[in-house]
Amino acid sequence: MNLLVRNGRVVDPANGLDAPGDVLVLDGRVARVGPGLPAPPGTPAVDVGGRVVAPGFIDIHVHLREPGEEYKETIASGTRAAAAGGFTSVACMANTRPVNDTRAVTDYILAEARARGAVRVYPIGAVTRGLEGRELAELGELAEAGCVGYSDDGRPVMNSALLRRALEYAQAFGRPVISHAEDASLAEGGVMHEGFVSTDLGLAGIPAAAEEIMVARDVALAELTGTPVHIAHVSTAAAVRLLRDAKARGVPVTGEVTPHHLLLTDEALRSYDTHAKMAPPLRSKRDVEACREALADGTLDAIATDHAPHALTDKEVELDHAANGVVGLETAVALCLTHLVRDGGLDLATLIARFTTGPARVLGLPGGSLTPGGPGDLTILDLGREHVVDPARFRSKGRNTPFGGWRCVGGPWMTVVGGRVAMHDGRLPEEGRS
Ligand code: DOR
Repeated sequence: MNLLVRNGRVVDPANGLDAPGDVLVLDGRVARVGPGLPAPPGTPAVDVGGRVVAPGFIDIHVHLREPGEEYKETIASGTRAAAAGGFTSVACMANTRPVNDTRAVTDYILAEARARGAVRVYPIGAVTRGLEGRELAELGELAEAGCVGYSDDGRPVMNSALLRRALEYAQAFGRPVISHAEDASLAEGGVMHEGFVSTDLGLAGIPAAAEEIMVARDVALAELTGTPVHIAHVSTAAAVRLLRDAKARGVPVTGEVTPHHLLLTDEALRSYDTHAKMAPPLRSKRDVEACREALADGTLDAIATDHAPHALTDKEVELDHAANGVVGLETAVALCLTHLVRDGGLDLATLIARFTTGPARVLGLPGGSLTPGGPGDLTILDLGREHVVDPARFRSKGRNTPFGGWRCVGGPWMTVVGGRVAMHDGRLPEEGRS
């Protein structure tokens, strides 16, 4: 696929570039970046009118729910949500039904993504069979089938010896292990962050220590084995401190943070809104500030959505019984542009790096830069685009967001995957123009 993107402000953090220019994609790959590029004959061109042209955004933490829970999401609907939200690649978690702990499931996900996916899909395989934390999954087979990392997301591997073995095997296959760092015994029974608000509401809490303990253990095991460990959805000041210290000592650890942990605190639970219930829970203001600082200074490498679609019936129940999780693919970019960059003082190039180079490096994925020869994936941003988050318009089957009604200024304007336009001005190709 060929495409010439003209008249952009090209921001490519990996190459230290922020300048007016064009990007030429030939045969699905970046061919040239620079001002005034001529279009080879027959190459379609789009004038982006000075909008920001960035490498394709990558979300390394997404639940696509297929196979097994297609009533919540499918590979088709989830990747359409990704394209609508400005993402060109997603990595999908293993907690499907059946669990992605065999080649057959990985093969199925990749085949479905090829047939019906709107963006690139990278499966993450399970660490243990059935996510049960008892015996290792076939890690070699999963890597061979195309898994880019391993995780029992949502079901932390509590047995340290087993995780050590997993790390030793993972190293042989050149894949990181992704840790949902939450001590299950401390988290058990909790529905929100343990603190002033949980006490006020009389709800059982999950202490920040549940995360701190596991991050400390995971850092120790990364150091022991030398295998990269990636901490998913970091939510506490203590976890940030541990990561910062481990990185300074050269331990191979990385971290991600979600938009909801950057923008909301446990105060959001005061209305008993089940859309504000997730694992790990929304934390205190101090934790949010620490996560924001860590995002800016690079202690946190990536923003990832933990897109976790649920059916209405999973959320329209009492807080105690509600499922954990929020959708994020269609709100992340606009919310971060608005509240972190426009109103939060974060530098635009840094935000783009946390959606591109950072996540690409964590999972060793192609892309994340506009270096010629790489995938022709682009996310084009309109920094002036004003809209209000309307869950009824999501392409995702999930409507479970605490951000409904939030006003955004700035958002994705075009998504290009391998030179093919996957979203333009809010519309996907099959939706046509009105
Ligand atoms: O909130 C969450 N939802 N956290 C997880 O770890 C799992 C996820 C899900 O699968 O719904």
